[in-house]
Amino acid sequence: QPLDLSSRYQLACQLAREAAQRGLRLYRQRDQLAVEHKGGFSQDVVSAADRELEVFIKAELMKLFPEDGFVGEETGAQRLDARCIWVIDPIDGTACFLHGLHNWCVSIGLLVDGVPAIGAVADPNHDELFHGGRGFGAWVNEQPLRVSEAQDLRAGLLGVGTFYAEGKQHFMPFLGKLLDAGGMFLRNGSGALMTAYVAAGRLLGYYETCLKSWDCVAGLALLAESGGRCNNFLRGEGLLKGNPYLVACPGVYEQVAEMIGPSLDAD
Ligand code: IPD
Ligand code: CA
Ligand code: CA
Ligand code: CA
Repeated sequence: QPLDLSSRYQLACQLAREAAQRGLRLYRQRDQLAVEHKGGFSQDVVSAADRELEVFIKAELMKLFPEDGFVGEETGAQRLDARCIWVIDPIDGTACFLHGLHNWCVSIGLLVDGVPAIGAVADPNHDELFHGGRGFGAWVNEQPLRVSEAQDLRAGLLGVGTFYAEGKQHFMPFLGKLLDAGGMFLRNGSGALMTAYVAAGRLLGYYETCLKSWDCVAGLALLAESGGRCNNFLRGEGLLKGNPYLVACPGVYEQVAEMIGPSLDAD
């Protein structure tokens, strides 16, 4: 039976929008949300809003496509042998969300046969839905997305991120090389939004020392349709454990990859 990608695409967009609106209501009452630290010495927090939105999104997806697989940041993975696997982050940018900063979004991605095929990233604070997929193009609301045509790091900003202290052995030398090349960095607190911004040509690229699949599968689907390049992020245990991550416009990809060095695609 042929796969119905169109209805999955429509559902991803509709759900991302709806979950983002629910998120916005919770964001406005964030002082009343229960918050927990996920692990000892880190900034990794989770709130009742993250959990509520993931339960909502998962239930809606599974209602319409009960055979599909699922990976979510807060509830884990199921049916990974399915051809279609939804990979979602109910709130990407939880720290921003809880501190009253606007950089957070809902990210819903779909892998088909292991390849990012559909993405919907909804940012309710700026009224932007980044969406797209294989054969559907990539869009922000109704505008087509295209990566930057820059050939030089001095032409714009590069998104960066590192979440745990272990990343610093790669992160700190990288920042030095970037600055030496006349580049400049931005960390906005949401990997899904930074990937969407690369697809939109707002950032030249984005490097994170170790990202998780739920942060980027949706964005990778947009990137593929907007002319961007990415590293082999899903290799090995990338889907469940994450990997180093680089996306960029073709004109600067090699230069950034060289600054990162072999850790980018090492096993
Ligand atoms: C985080 C954000 C952040 C990135 C971290 C992620 P969360 O996701 O994407 O930008 O630096 O690696 O874990 O926890 O806010 O969903
Ligand atoms: Ca988190
Ligand atoms: Ca995330
Ligand atoms: Ca999250």
